[in-house]
Amino acid sequence: MECNYPALDEKSLHRLGEKLARYVAPGVVFCLSGTLGAGKTSLARAIIKSACKITEEIPSPTFTLVQSYEFKGNCEIWHLDLYRLETCEEVLALGLEDAFIDHCCIIEWPDIISDMLPADVIYIHLDFACSNIKQTDASILQDSRRVRIKTSNQKIKSIQI
Ligand SMILES: Nc1ncnc2c1ncn2[C@@H]1O[C@H](COP(=O)(O)OP(=O)(O)OP(=O)(O)O)[C@@H](O)[C@H]1O
Ligand SMILES: [Mg+2]
Repeated sequence: MECNYPALDEKSLHRLGEKLARYVAPGVVFCLSGTLGAGKTSLARAIIKSACKITEEIPSPTFTLVQSYEFKGNCEIWHLDLYRLETCEEVLALGLEDAFIDHCCIIEWPDIISDMLPADVIYIHLDFACSNIKQTDASILQDSRRVRIKTSNQKIKSIQI
């Protein structure tokens, strides 16, 4: 399945997160890539809040590397940010191999572990929406993000926002 959203405002990105939250389950891995400030943490927060029915703020794992959340009593959601890690060994030390089986993982900056990822990972790439969008109001453009989803996971159907 491949989906392309050329320009999502923040509210729409949250709605996408709520829809993606339906796919949270043990063994499901979301990889969120894209430049600094593209909205990876915003999307992860929306998925976690919706899946775990959390109303308070979700911290970014930028410094803690991993934050975990109880999901329906049968697994956890691990929210990871691998930006600061330099070797696969450091990543393995977090216990990620077991987490790929027992838990649901949402991974920001996943490039360092591209070789370790399960085959049916859900890839989500976020970008600043840009000039090819016919948009005269620069401020709206600045708050729009292009999002592309790609997965071979047969359970994931195309998502309408
Ligand atoms: N359409 C949008 N979608 C997501 N975030 C948006 C949007 N428009 C504006 N923003 C703002 O952009 C910022 C995105 O920050 P966020 O921390 O989610 O990015 P990130 O990709 O996780 O960055 P980093 O690489 O530093 O971890 C937030 O301040 C958010 O309010
Ligand atoms: Mg982030």
